[in-house]
Amino acid sequence: MPYGSMEEAYKNATTLSYLTTEQALADFAVFVTDLKRNLSAEACPVVLFGGSYGGMLATWMRLKYPHIAIGALASSAPILQFEDIVPPETFYDIASNDFKRESSNCFNTIKDSWDAIIAEGQKENGLLQLTKIFHFCRVLNSTDDLLDWLDFAYSYLAMVDYPYPADFMMPLPGYPIKEVLCSSSSKGCEL
Ligand SMILES: *[C@@H]1O[C@H](CO)[C@@H](O)[C@H](O)[C@H]1NC(C)=O
Ligand SMILES: *[C@@H]1O[C@H](CO)[C@@H](O)[C@H](O)[C@H]1NC(C)=O
Repeated sequence: MPYGSMEEAYKNATTLSYLTTEQALADFAVFVTDLKRNLSAEACPVVLFGGSYGGMLATWMRLKYPHIAIGALASSAPILQFEDIVPPETFYDIASNDFKRESSNCFNTIKDSWDAIIAEGQKENGLLQLTKIFHFCRVLNSTDDLLDWLDFAYSYLAMVDYPYPADFMMPLPGYPIKEVLCSSSSKGCEL
């Protein structure tokens, strides 16, 4: 963390300018070299491991600092997920298909829910109604927070939809999307 704390590092454009992937890679290059010297392990080869953004860093570090790392293992690393290479909607297409695969009925219900929530929010007492339905502790001021919350829930569920029980973001059973779609209400998706 440049300047030792998040508060300092996020202060202004000058301090923020150190929070780049290039700087992160340069930091790792210095760190790995320094650590090897401290451990009297200069002759030891280094292999980089990373997942997600860390996987992107591992890949780029192997490319940019081949004299420091002999290899990199990148897992779930979206190294080509950039606007001019992969269409921005690709992630959501994949996430949507994870739900569609389990139930096209549920997929369509979720798809229709965005407009339904916005419409409800515009009604008199609509935000209060939504607050009650979703059991929020505080009354919603707009539907934005609710839509973001649902977006996160669906997106993260798709990212951790492993075919076996796992404890990545949180403990979840195998096929968590199926679990959510089939057990969220006794009527399934016929909301
Ligand atoms: C290497 O040792 C020096 C001196 O003890 C220390 O200041 C530095 O933080 C160490 N570097 C790493 C990467 O452990
Ligand atoms: C809604 O707005 C009020 C007043 O601005 C604020 O105190 C409250 O925390 C807001 N509620 C939510 C859920 O953000």
